[in-house]
Amino acid sequence: MRAIAGTDQLSVVTLPDPEPGPHEVVIDVVAAGVNRADLLQRKGLYPPPPGAVDTLGLEVSGRIAALGEHVSGWKVGDEVCALLAGGGYAEKVAVPAVQVLPKPTAVDLVSAAALPEVACTVASNVFDAGHLASGELLLIHGGSSGIGTHAIQVAHAIGARVAVTARTAQKLDRCRELGAEVLINYADDDFVDIIRECGGADVILDIMGAKYLEQNVRALNTGGRLVIIGMQGGTKAELSIAALMTKRASVIGTTLRSRPVTGSNSKAEVVATTRRITWPLLDSGEVLPIVDSTFGLADAEAAHARLDSGDAIGKILLTVN
Ligand SMILES: NC(=O)c1ccc[n+]([C@@H]2O[C@H](COP(=O)([O-])OP(=O)(O)OC[C@H]3O[C@@H](n4cnc5c(N)ncnc54)[C@H](OP(=O)(O)O)[C@@H]3O)[C@@H](O)[C@H]2O)c1
Repeated sequence: MRAIAGTDQLSVVTLPDPEPGPHEVVIDVVAAGVNRADLLQRKGLYPPPPGAVDTLGLEVSGRIAALGEHVSGWKVGDEVCALLAGGGYAEKVAVPAVQVLPKPTAVDLVSAAALPEVACTVASNVFDAGHLASGELLLIHGGSSGIGTHAIQVAHAIGARVAVTARTAQKLDRCRELGAEVLINYADDDFVDIIRECGGADVILDIMGAKYLEQNVRALNTGGRLVIIGMQGGTKAELSIAALMTKRASVIGTTLRSRPVTGSNSKAEVVATTRRITWPLLDSGEVLPIVDSTFGLADAEAAHARLDSGDAIGKILLTVN
């Protein structure tokens, strides 16, 4: 499924089956995750990185159908999920083997499509970049988002305290069920005041960017780490260097899709980190995929409308085969 160039319409197209490159596997797709980036890509605002297919879709689950000649550690028929640079809204996709993860034992194959983007984003940002430790306070903006619902569970599981922002009582209730203890309705309350009353955030996982920059720095604890992964609130803002220095705080920004496949800070490294940190928690059932709703691939328009509505809690999936 692709966006028609110059429009925001989606169309189903017939393409040749992908062949695996020497270091790739081909996956028979069972389900694909829907991401905010897909909405931007279909509007022409988030083009795929050079070399990536322009079919939508940043993550899938399914079964390995073919292996490249240099691939080891996987076999045809293995149930897996994978992080993609694109191409997931399809019956088959070729992906570097280093971006593939085994289906966690406690998770069904369709729901496994809800994991690669959120798990890799949270492991690489909250733990690798943000160094969240047991007993520390993590503030997650958009606690009921796909990313938020996963981050709450993993942080709670490692013994961190979790604060979240969300827009409705229903969303905050769900965050509490998942392990959040400080619930902030950002429409009614100033999150800075509440977080400071709690002693300050050691790590903030931010999706708002410019809009929250000044408030986030005020909410940080001494030595705090602000990790920005989204720019839903804009890209340019003023930062008080004095405030940052006084707190010995740091501001970090990252993306996942534009990382190289292998080497330093690559997708391969992120996937390996995620497998080490998060997969044991998924295998044991301590962390679960949170799926808001599932649509057939032919109903991708409706799935996008659901994400765009802002009403979803957790991930939206497309089933393919
Ligand atoms: N950098 C990376 O590598 C990377 C990777 C994956 C995702 N992301 C980004 O992470 C973000 C979340 O992704 P997702 O797929 O989980 O998105 P999603 O499920 O669509 O969630 C978006 C969230 O934004 C929240 N939000 C909107 N305005 C807010 C505000 N003023 N304060 C606090 N929260 C607000 C919404 O919560 P309410 O309805 O409660 O307002 C909603 O939960 C997106 O911006 C995405 O682009 C970045």
